[in-house]
Amino acid sequence: MHKPFLGTCYYPEHWSPNRWASDAQRMSNLGLSVVRIGEFAWSRIEPQPGQFDWQWLDQAIDTLAAAGLKIVLGTPTATPPRWMLARHPDMLAMDEDGQPRGFGSRRHYCFSHDGYRQESVRIATLMAERYAANPQIYGWQIDNEYGCHDTVLSYSDAAQRAFQRWLADRYQSIEELNHAWGNVFWSMEYDNFENVGLPNLTVTEANPAHVHDFRRFSSDQVIRYNRAQADAIRAHSHAPLIHNYMGRITDFNHFRLAEDLDIASWDAYPLGFLLDRSGADEQRQLAYQRQGEPDFQAFHHDLYRGVGRGRWWVMEQQPGPVNWAPYNPAPLPGMVRLWTWEAFAHQAEAVCYFRWRQAPFAQEQMHAGLLRPDSEPAPVMSEVVQVVDELANIGSIEPAAAPVAMVFDYSSCWAWETQPQGQSFDYFALQLALYRGLRRLGLSVDIVAPEIDALDAYQFVIVAGLMHWNPTLLAAIESFDGIVLVGPRSGSKTENFRIPESLPPALPGLNCKVAYVESLAPGAERPLQGGGYVQNWLEALETDVQVLERTADSAAQPVLVANENLHYLAGWPNDEAALRMLGQLCKAANINTHEMPPGVRQRCTASHRFLFNYNAFESQYDGVVLPAAGVHWQTL
Ligand code: GAL
Repeated sequence: MHKPFLGTCYYPEHWSPNRWASDAQRMSNLGLSVVRIGEFAWSRIEPQPGQFDWQWLDQAIDTLAAAGLKIVLGTPTATPPRWMLARHPDMLAMDEDGQPRGFGSRRHYCFSHDGYRQESVRIATLMAERYAANPQIYGWQIDNEYGCHDTVLSYSDAAQRAFQRWLADRYQSIEELNHAWGNVFWSMEYDNFENVGLPNLTVTEANPAHVHDFRRFSSDQVIRYNRAQADAIRAHSHAPLIHNYMGRITDFNHFRLAEDLDIASWDAYPLGFLLDRSGADEQRQLAYQRQGEPDFQAFHHDLYRGVGRGRWWVMEQQPGPVNWAPYNPAPLPGMVRLWTWEAFAHQAEAVCYFRWRQAPFAQEQMHAGLLRPDSEPAPVMSEVVQVVDELANIGSIEPAAAPVAMVFDYSSCWAWETQPQGQSFDYFALQLALYRGLRRLGLSVDIVAPEIDALDAYQFVIVAGLMHWNPTLLAAIESFDGIVLVGPRSGSKTENFRIPESLPPALPGLNCKVAYVESLAPGAERPLQGGGYVQNWLEALETDVQVLERTADSAAQPVLVANENLHYLAGWPNDEAALRMLGQLCKAANINTHEMPPGVRQRCTASHRFLFNYNAFESQYDGVVLPAAGVHWQTL
């Protein structure tokens, strides 16, 4: 494995050109190797349609390169200039209420708009033609954060027409569609594809099969849009193609999009995420307010390592307070270093800090950078200096295989958003809860796509909440000798969003049926015989296989059952129960576990063991004293 490196995100167009050389020199003196630029600069590259000003970008690239920095060049398609809208007045996405998502911020385009896709290909082609031969271009970032600001789903005319074509292609005949969706229910049958609308503005909920196909279609539109730019750049450049994905944005299938790219990256804002999307309860939010949720970053590191087929970066790392969460505290001293090392421990190739200098104007003027607006170093700088120094001395971090794999399925996220059945059922939250249990046991985890065709690299595999089985995964499970844990709601629908005839979980070899399900409101948790409880979700099983765990009430309902290596979990365990059950299953899988103290996490590579203390106080583990927000490693 090559040595990990550091970088930053820079906006030359925000600063006078006479600052560029000193900025570049400071980045390089600091020990940064890479700088991402360009991703929002369309209005400066092409101020008027067809009139280009490349001179400033040439100069910025030359200046950064002269300081020895490698460049990731972004295509500026997340920010179409105002004239674009005059050229394509119907290019805007429409929200669910049918209102346009207008100009004045960013991401104001509909993925289905053919004209805008062609404009995007045009600008990507011109950039690739101009800069592909420049040896300082390390790679390309296509667009910026697909899905940010809730922009995947669009209810525009362009989306409607494209959806009708997509449906005609999938079902071939309208009878087939009517049958697949069950449109006889409430006389929803269509005569032709041109009559099929988008699933918004209905009187009450739309047919879930209709919504689910719209979600699949919307994901495909992102993939198609990205592919158009990827093909355009590849026609001129051999440099790696990258996209910067986000935390807990699941509106498109990242595994499929990544098939057209070389490196996955994501934008890690641990403090923003804690309040904004980690799902942490109030007590946890307080405990980790300046550190972030201890498993949220690691989950995404593992997810994006999977998405990137081993190659992944943190493209944007929070360096101080952000501007967009409900409250925006400063990281505890030490945390930026900890977050950086945690990424490297999970095999990141690079971590880039967002951003070089805090902007004194516009939307993100309250967002910290490595430099303050007056160009003095922000408090984080000393931590970056320390990481640079440590990187020089740590040697190579060698990857190690993880013993456990978790299947992550974007389509299941969409399915349970459409039909939660209980308002606390959330696919992502279920995965994070199980992942947390594995991390509390000190384990390294791989997160894999549901189309995985071989599981032999693992000792223990978890599939929870999977909407429907695909034949590849079924075959992989059938030939797998390790321990399998299938979690609640798995196999509970067919591909067309129907309940399978055999009833869930519809996994051959498991020999159990879900007779009915209950969603549990807060306060309605069911205690378990072994300790802890089931929350949110509980299924009534009909089974004659071995029962490993039951509810502790008079019903004594089976909750965890096993048939040889296959296990089925019929509810959502709380943290205590998850830890206990996962511990037992690891034992059965011959995996050694070590329970970590609260807030302390570890990650073992083949060469190093890393320990991370997310606590705001000193903690100890295995004879090592970890200061608050401390990182420790030892070579193995
Ligand atoms: C990211 C985005 C950046 C910037 C940053 C602020 O989501 O890619 O452009 O907005 O957030 O935290």
